[in-house]
Amino acid sequence: MLANKTIVLGITGSIAAYKAADIASKLTRAGASVEVVMTDSATRFVAPLTLRSITGRPVVTDMFELASEFSIEHIALAEVADVVVIAPATANIIAKLSTGIADDMLACTVLATKAPIILAPAMNVNMFENPITQENLSKLKARGFTIVDPACGRLASGKIGLGRLAEVDEIIATINQVLGRSGDIAGKRIVVTAGGTQEPIDPVRHIGNRSSGKMGYAVAEAARDRGAVVLLITAPTSLPQPAGIEVVRVRTAAGMKEAVAEAVAQADVLIMAAAVADYQPQSVAEAKIKKDSPSLTLELIRTPDILAEVKGNFIRVGFAAESEDIVANAKQKLEKKQLDIIVANDITDADSGFGADTNKVILISRDGKVETLPLLSKREVADKILDRVVGLLAKKA
Ligand code: PMT
Repeated sequence: MLANKTIVLGITGSIAAYKAADIASKLTRAGASVEVVMTDSATRFVAPLTLRSITGRPVVTDMFELASEFSIEHIALAEVADVVVIAPATANIIAKLSTGIADDMLACTVLATKAPIILAPAMNVNMFENPITQENLSKLKARGFTIVDPACGRLASGKIGLGRLAEVDEIIATINQVLGRSGDIAGKRIVVTAGGTQEPIDPVRHIGNRSSGKMGYAVAEAARDRGAVVLLITAPTSLPQPAGIEVVRVRTAAGMKEAVAEAVAQADVLIMAAAVADYQPQSVAEAKIKKDSPSLTLELIRTPDILAEVKGNFIRVGFAAESEDIVANAKQKLEKKQLDIIVANDITDADSGFGADTNKVILISRDGKVETLPLLSKREVADKILDRVVGLLAKKA
């Protein structure tokens, strides 16, 4: 979403201003053209030259100084912006914007733009919690501004509380999400499953697998960035909660089935990247099992087959982790589970499948189309899957 987009990054006078350099760097590396506008107080915290060096673009600091092409026409930036992001946004800029004061270049740009606006507040906890600031934020939200809520933590004042600038990755995810509102699956409801389910044996042990959740989370994030309304149903993982995505946490195959069955009632697409346990212990011991006998036998029973059992008129995409006869085995699963697409996942390679950041897959559609993809990042694989989903949605429409 970021490639070739013009992002106006407003920086205001907060101790968190240095983090804006990281935001600018990540956006620039993702292919966006980043136009930085700094308030006077922001320049006390971080040098404009730093931002200029990172973005390779002139930095606007003064409405009346003809230092850049944009200073000449004070609303030029407002017109070229695909999105305006203010990070960090102080109580002062929030107050100004909520009343329409335009006494510096940043406030003028915001007032003049038709692009979506994102604010990432950062300030002292008392200033943030002050009803005046809260009222200003509510007003701006009601006017369509997107607010990336601050995090709780240690603030510059030494106090612990709400007011720390949100994580840079969360701010970037929000930019992606806002830009994605006009994406090719905008408004579609997509349910994604991720991670490996855990089937308890006793209160402290379970049967599990090596799924990290990376593939499913990548699908959920890619769908979000293309405008979908995403619900992620995840088994336990150590991944951070993705921004802009509703997350339902489950543990077992039965729990996942219940969550999926409820979610698909309103879904356009179900994409199951989760590694769901095929068997569960017939009974779960109430107390921790003692190791006093030389061997232990567990009676296992089948878990519900979620993909095969959930009913509804949505597009079904399954994954198949395979180590041999990849295409034939995956095709069998496609038939058995009545899928529209199956993503046959080669797990023989250490760079592919469970736990890896990359993946090697073959996309197989119900109409017989087979496409072997090279080793790609999981995010790239996710986008390839969504390209096919877009085609199916178009056909269905
Ligand atoms: O999480 P990562 O570390 O990133 O790894 C990603 C992955 C390798 C787990 C993922 O890419 C993958 O291949 N997931 C499917 C794993 C698998 O082996 O699925 P399966 O062949 O057992 O099942 C086929 C399909 O049916 C899957 O979509 C699965 O979610 C679904 N299923 C399986 C069993 C079950 N009881 N109910 C199901 O719905």
